[in-house]
Amino acid sequence: MIKRYPPINGSLPALMHGADYSPEQWLDQPELLQEDIRLMRLAKTNVMAVGIFSWSALESEEGVFSFDWLDRLLDRFAANGIFAWLSTPSAARPAWMSEKYTEVLRVGANRVRNLHGFRHNHCYTSPIYRKKVRLINSKLAERYSEHPAVIGWHISNEYGGECHCPLCQEAFREWLKAKYGTLEALNRAWWTSFWSHSYTSWSQVESPSPHGENKTHGLNIDWRRFVTDQTVDFCRQEIVPLKAANSELPVTTNLMRWYGGLDYRKFADVIDVVSWNAYPEWHQHPSDQGDGDMAAEIAFNHDLFRSIKGGKPFVLMESTPSLTNWQPVSKLKRPGMHKLSSLQAVAHGADGVQYFQWRKSRGSFEKFHGAVVDHAGHEHTRVFGDVADVGDSLERLTEVTGTTVDAKTAILADWDNRWAVNDAKGPRNSGLHYEGTVMQHYRAFWRLGIAVDVIGREDDFSKYKLIIAPMQYMLDDAAGARIEAFVENGGTFVATYWSGIVDENDLCHLGGFPGPLRRTLGIWSEEIEGLYDHDRNALAFLEGNSLGLSGAFDSHELCELIHLEGAEALAVYRADFYAGRPALTVHAFGRGKAYYLATRASEPFYKPFYTEVAKAAGIERALETELPTGVTAQARTDGENDYVFVMNFSGRAQEIRLDDRRYTDLETGEPSGPKLALDANGVRILKRSAIENE
Ligand code: GLA
Ligand code: ZN
Repeated sequence: MIKRYPPINGSLPALMHGADYSPEQWLDQPELLQEDIRLMRLAKTNVMAVGIFSWSALESEEGVFSFDWLDRLLDRFAANGIFAWLSTPSAARPAWMSEKYTEVLRVGANRVRNLHGFRHNHCYTSPIYRKKVRLINSKLAERYSEHPAVIGWHISNEYGGECHCPLCQEAFREWLKAKYGTLEALNRAWWTSFWSHSYTSWSQVESPSPHGENKTHGLNIDWRRFVTDQTVDFCRQEIVPLKAANSELPVTTNLMRWYGGLDYRKFADVIDVVSWNAYPEWHQHPSDQGDGDMAAEIAFNHDLFRSIKGGKPFVLMESTPSLTNWQPVSKLKRPGMHKLSSLQAVAHGADGVQYFQWRKSRGSFEKFHGAVVDHAGHEHTRVFGDVADVGDSLERLTEVTGTTVDAKTAILADWDNRWAVNDAKGPRNSGLHYEGTVMQHYRAFWRLGIAVDVIGREDDFSKYKLIIAPMQYMLDDAAGARIEAFVENGGTFVATYWSGIVDENDLCHLGGFPGPLRRTLGIWSEEIEGLYDHDRNALAFLEGNSLGLSGAFDSHELCELIHLEGAEALAVYRADFYAGRPALTVHAFGRGKAYYLATRASEPFYKPFYTEVAKAAGIERALETELPTGVTAQARTDGENDYVFVMNFSGRAQEIRLDDRRYTDLETGEPSGPKLALDANGVRILKRSAIENE
């Protein structure tokens, strides 16, 4: 049933490997640029991202364009079998533009206009900026969109931030008018009768500001939605001239690690390929803890970015070959980690592993950021060797290209829910930990080697057997009804405390929480309390509970007092005046089941809990075997063959016992099993028939 996706670009039916390349920094040294080509081949790279910050080199004065250097570069690439993601340069602009057209400069929430400098410092609304971007993009598209080296477009760089200039204020008001129609409707949705905040004219509506309105939750969330829409619209406008020149060339834009500023799902229809930039803080913890938690967090992001376009292979557009220069501490990757972290991306569905950056710049802000080619300038470095090894592995993994991850489990994590839950006052302003909670639920699946998609409440639920919704505070009636139908039709659903509290406008559901989920979950949540950091309760399993679990698990931070309305209790609180009341429930509803976790259980709870829930829901693991702490397995498939990546983030050598299916090591071509040895930071890729097990 699963099929292979076609390669991102048919000219390169293989996994991509390369880096951000900034030749404009070295135009006075042609021999060095020539040497780069030799080194690129030696490092087994095949795609460079070029032109990301090249606007000044392309248009040194207004209307004065020079493309010779880029012509030469791309021709040289084509002659040497190297491809390019060609970038639009909008992420940083020349000084002449800021000097001549002040409106292109961004204005902060404090209403102060920035000076020229830095990057990502432009207004997304400014007609002049949009016009200038369209002009340079058109020139690039007309000149290069049929160039044999150009494999796709890299749109801008890490879109982000917001602008509060008068043009953006006006655009925001227009956006609100289109959404609400009348001021009365807006006043109702934002509950502005509170504190006499009602608006009597559209001109009174302004974006949130630290020295102005910032307590109206409806305004805050609409502003964030507007910022997303305006940024996506800017991106869409960037793409128009590119598609006009050649509609076949795929476009991507590089996204950031679960970035909170933009609802990335809204980019899904605008771009052809999702790509993102990963900079994990490896080796932060003493070796006995290993890198498992960090690996799980990065895995979550890979899954999120794969899920944005429904499982289509994505690209790891940036990662460092060694260290960053902007994290609090710049630690080197330990032996093996470069390959492990690169192939981790592939395991989760990446069809490309790219770096920031190819060659270390000589001066300015990023001169000490890791690169494939160091200031020493040659290939005889540890890092270059690591990169070439990854190139070698990616070549051996060519047949994985276009396969995907077939997850039957999904975690629901909406951006607007995240904004709203974090914006709310109470029930625990000293730490509600929404993101950490999502990660906590996710980690259990990572430890079990169960594939997970990360989806939004508007995504299609029908392919899943199990959906987890941690702290789904914001839930509209329509989404509640879709979840209800999912469970009714046989799905398993897990919800937690602080769910179904508000609708899409951040207005509380009346008539009892968890609002639109109350029937599905078969409970009523009457009260919630925040606990001090030192407070503890516990969730104690009842004897004979249907999950077959026993014992008690600490719980902390949040406790809800719930009533059963059809659900049965699996565990109860152990302490305080609500001891004995339900803390974990299950409701048989339609053909499915809905679990409710009423309190924040501590870490050891989640793995045994989800082991049983997944088993009952008929979820398969990548390998049906016990995985040591810090080791996980993740499979890609085309429906005929599975490619199982077994990854050891534990920080020490491990051995695992494979299940009794037949495996071949994809890198060596040798049969494998029944025992699989993994070095510290080791990774093995095993191929097996996907049909055998059906
Ligand atoms: C980001 C940017 C790159 C570079 C790297 C450094 O991801 O997109 O241009 O600054 O960070 O880690
Ligand atoms: Zn603006």
